[in-house]
Amino acid sequence: MTKEKKILISGIQPTGRLHLGNYLGALKNFIELQNSETYDCCFFVADYHSLTEHFDPRKKPEEIKNLLKDFIAAGLDPNKSILFIQSHIPFVTELAWILSTLTPFGELSRMTQFKDKAQKEEFANVGLFTYPILMAADILLYGAEYVPVGEDQLQHLELARTLARKFNGVFGEIFKEPKALLTKTPRVMSLQNPEKKMSKSDPSGCVFLDDAPEVIEEKIKRAVTDSESSIAYSPKSRPGISNLIEIYSAFENITKDEVIEHHKTSTYSVFKEALSSLISKHFESFRAKKEALNDKEILDIIETGNAHAHGKAVKNIGSVRAKIWLI
Ligand code: ADP
Ligand code: TRP
Repeated sequence: MTKEKKILISGIQPTGRLHLGNYLGALKNFIELQNSETYDCCFFVADYHSLTEHFDPRKKPEEIKNLLKDFIAAGLDPNKSILFIQSHIPFVTELAWILSTLTPFGELSRMTQFKDKAQKEEFANVGLFTYPILMAADILLYGAEYVPVGEDQLQHLELARTLARKFNGVFGEIFKEPKALLTKTPRVMSLQNPEKKMSKSDPSGCVFLDDAPEVIEEKIKRAVTDSESSIAYSPKSRPGISNLIEIYSAFENITKDEVIEHHKTSTYSVFKEALSSLISKHFESFRAKKEALNDKEILDIIETGNAHAHGKAVKNIGSVRAKIWLI
């Protein structure tokens, strides 16, 4: 009998174009993990989560399709991974409700992402506060044991572990405690403000995966560095150039020391040109593939993916209900 593979899950919100942080911290890893054939992989569009931010409802379907195209053009393969849309399996909101009754208020109040996002909003909504519970439900509903994410999501994942433990302790063992899988670049910094993470909420500091080569070149050229001239790694004192070295090392698949050695005589402008061309080349086939994908293909893929995800979810929500005597 073949051994069943462990389940791995992750999601991304459809809230705009994907940037290098999303790619190097998450999506690139999704693809490598899928291709390792070690896990039963599930990847989804976190559209329920995206309701916590201001949005135009008429644009949402386009944003969802766009993210699915990003997934597929970057290398996620519907024959190897289950690709689905979070809201198409609404059991997740039921599980989130059940988990909310086990979640200490204080624990949610400490979440860094909530504090950051709430500060920026005039009227922060409660969904922003309970966001990590829905994320825990996303993971536990599918029985996932591994979750590839960027560093900013670790605090949320810790809550998912706590809730799995708590549920098992109170009602009986059903959940596994999920573990995070980080990349070597779990926190890519903004090009304009290298002390902050690259984020969709600050587009000026982002390179987007579907940016044209000229745009990439211009953005890297304008990336904030310092008044020194050597290519050296020191994230505290020289965050700008250090971030560019990390990005270079991830795309060239060499160590930071090798990048520095290779560019020991380069000026900043030569180094930046080399980096832009590395990034542009890397996404050449991505851009072409994305352009060629049509909506019908995407909808077919999602129909199959949703059906598989539904199968896993039904089984697990049934076990949850049985444990808490909801019959
Ligand atoms: P954003 O913060 O830009 O809105 P998301 O919250 O949609 O991005 O994140 C999607 C995935 O990308 C998550 O796994 C997240 O941890 C990862 N991620 C986001 N920003 C970065 C970054 N700057 N560096 C590394 N990973 C990141
Ligand atoms: N919160 C994640 C983000 O902002 C997206 C997400 C929602 C997620 N549910 C998840 C990631 C479950 C991993 C697992 O990027």
